[in-house]
Amino acid sequence: MEITVQKTDNPKEKPDQGNLGFGTNFTDHMFIMDYSKDKGWHDARIVPYGPMKFDPAMATLHYGQAVFEGMKAYKSPDNRILLFRPEKNMERLNNTNDRMCIPRIDEEFCLEAIKKLVNIDKEWIPTAPGTSLYIRPFIIATDKYLGLKPSSTYKFMVILSPVGAYYPQGVNPVEIYVENEYVRAVPGGTGHVKTSGNYAASLKAQAEASARGYVQVLWLDGLERKYIEEVGSMNVFFKIDSELVTPALVGSILPGVTRDSTIELVKSWGIKVTERRVSIAEIFEEHKKGRLDEAFGTGTAAVISPIGELNWEGRSIKVNDGKTGRLAERIYQKLTGIQTGELEDDFGWTE
Ligand code: COI
Repeated sequence: MEITVQKTDNPKEKPDQGNLGFGTNFTDHMFIMDYSKDKGWHDARIVPYGPMKFDPAMATLHYGQAVFEGMKAYKSPDNRILLFRPEKNMERLNNTNDRMCIPRIDEEFCLEAIKKLVNIDKEWIPTAPGTSLYIRPFIIATDKYLGLKPSSTYKFMVILSPVGAYYPQGVNPVEIYVENEYVRAVPGGTGHVKTSGNYAASLKAQAEASARGYVQVLWLDGLERKYIEEVGSMNVFFKIDSELVTPALVGSILPGVTRDSTIELVKSWGIKVTERRVSIAEIFEEHKKGRLDEAFGTGTAAVISPIGELNWEGRSIKVNDGKTGRLAERIYQKLTGIQTGELEDDFGWTE
């Protein structure tokens, strides 16, 4: 399929790289492609970024049949545009589509479309330390119909946003509230895929944790509120003694690209990494024994976010005296070094 390009007549002023924040500025162009039953995915086009018109009865607005991905582009010191393991995001997008009754996309074609869009807006890729061009592919159901059924029409879109740190705290440790009431996902649900409703459903716990003075919540399993699943919108890791431990992908946990990369990277350093069920009681017990060295979240947006404190049922523990751990720092440096092209990519992760 050909991708048509309509360039903007009104390029916008680029934001100050020192003050980007996350997801508030958008580039000059966006990618759109439509789906209908008779034509399949069609009409691939890059057009000026801007508001769109939708019917108030559009299915997505009512039943949340919507999915998304998050990935990042960087400009290397020798001026190459680098994407980090983008094929993993395309593969996950199709897994999400399958779960949400959305037609599959052609992964290779969509990756080509993303590369073409990023190339057109390449002047928007920031290069200041800690910045990148966040890529947000997403699919929305566009049928004008209030009955509940999978839509027969969709839009696949990609927008781009130059970003700095996701959390204002950057890579400084954050205080986490262990959530005992609300859950993020249940077995058989949608926690293992990236559908918009998962994020909407997480807001209440997040808001209550914020009101208590915590930055994020730690999610426990939906059946027993015993096993750790994720932290905020990230996967979570614990360094216990000499081993790195992370919850196994039991079906309600999102298989993060940064999670997978962290596991491979840390194993390559000769450190033992185990994917298994981890209970919150075990973490508090290991802390008591002085064996909980570090805890941190991993995700595309934040990369690595160290946990400085955990509050569970009124009991509070400080992890690594509330300071960023050595392993978290080492992972952050290596991952971002590979992503920006400043360090050797021994894994072949960038393209
Ligand atoms: C990401 O880490 O890319 C995410 O999708 C989380 C989102 C809330 C920004």
